[in-house]
Amino acid sequence: MDRISIVGGKQLSGSLAISGAKNAALPLMIASLLTSERLTLKNVPNLADVNTLARILRNHGVDLAVDGKRADPSPYLGETFHLTARDIVDTTAPYEMVSRMRASFWVLGPLLARCGVARVSMPGGCAIGTRPVDLHLMGLKALGAEIEIDGGYVVAKATKGLKGARVSFPKVSVGATHAVLMAAALAKGETVIENAAREPEIGDVAECLAKMGCKMEGIGTSTLRIQGAGRLEGAVHTVLPDRIETGTYAFAVAAAGGDVELRGARKSLLDTAFAALEQAGVTIAETEHGVRIARNGRGLQPIAIETQPYPGFPTDLQAQLMALMTRAEGTSVIRETIFENRFMHVQELARLGADIQLQGDTATVRGVKQLRGAQVMATDLRASVSLVIAGLMAEGKTTINRVYHLDRGFERLEQKLSGCGADIERLVSG
Ligand code: EPZ
Repeated sequence: MDRISIVGGKQLSGSLAISGAKNAALPLMIASLLTSERLTLKNVPNLADVNTLARILRNHGVDLAVDGKRADPSPYLGETFHLTARDIVDTTAPYEMVSRMRASFWVLGPLLARCGVARVSMPGGCAIGTRPVDLHLMGLKALGAEIEIDGGYVVAKATKGLKGARVSFPKVSVGATHAVLMAAALAKGETVIENAAREPEIGDVAECLAKMGCKMEGIGTSTLRIQGAGRLEGAVHTVLPDRIETGTYAFAVAAAGGDVELRGARKSLLDTAFAALEQAGVTIAETEHGVRIARNGRGLQPIAIETQPYPGFPTDLQAQLMALMTRAEGTSVIRETIFENRFMHVQELARLGADIQLQGDTATVRGVKQLRGAQVMATDLRASVSLVIAGLMAEGKTTINRVYHLDRGFERLEQKLSGCGADIERLVSG
């Protein structure tokens, strides 16, 4: 297994390109199941999770072609995918595939809506919490699906097709909102989703569905009103920039010090995270091509924050913030309200000398004068990158083991950071 080695203490400068958002690209690819026509997605990031989903979609019968190299490639436009689900040849998503990546469970809604039947393996738990799917099932049942669990599979049927309905979620869920939104696009009649997740990636999918012929109101709000189209067309859509990757590099620059432009980043997607960084003493400015992050010489101020659904502080940046706060001049308090077990990074950060006390859902982080490099273990995607951030601040060498987690969600991480002056390299296993 590959490892990443970092020698800390180098300031970062220059610029790096932000990729398309993983968490928009995945549901957008799944939306290709809703039409027999071609869906073209531009700016798709080259990530392990995208490749895993491509395999799963091919298994359902989706033809996937990827454009070759362009003569004049934009520095921050990713790959172009052409997805055509002319015929769905298999409505089962098997355990071996779904267990690799939770978002693949999201094929359930589109398969059911298009074919009237779907059999999708339960995704199971994962490192950050139990992550049930009850809200997905609740939403699809409201649209008329009959659902049973059989041998670890969700078996869903809608022999007469799905019918629009009012779905009022008791809790905000990104995945359940995607599921109902995509299914409703093909259902008969109007669906209203109340307490919908407002994450920008949901808006991106909604805009793509609108291009495919689905009429929709309330994009970006917590009430989505969807007029089922019965039949959807092909479309061309560009994946929005990755706000979590943007935030991660912003925290990395804050940690290492220096001045870096994040090209292609959209500042408005990260209001809460950037406000936290500014409070910590980091300068953030919108530029013609993205966002500029700078911290020159000043110490970091501690902050108190809790994770919340969008537009609150994202759980997907909690670990990165915690890594940064290990060197703040004072005590920070970080509360995780979305996932019950998203603190796997705490014990690894402690190996570098961080002082973090955990109590229930709250971490108290006392800033220390210095972190020291050590061997650490990547546990989940965002936890892993928090170790990279800590490594950039630490004295000496940090080696991160099991970096396949990073490859699931960060494209060319070592190249992007080394291009800005970080001393970071991948040690490829023999
Ligand atoms: C999405 O996961 C993201 N994944 C996650 O990013 C992200 O952390 C999360 O949303 C929250 O923002 C993708 O977009 C591919 P949820 P999702 O349903 O949809 C509970 C990353 O690192 N819940 O919004 O699975 C659930 O247990 C990943 O890129 C139910 O109780 O998250 C959690 O406590 C990790 N029942 C809360 O809701 C359900 O049926 C929010 O989860 C569904 C969820």
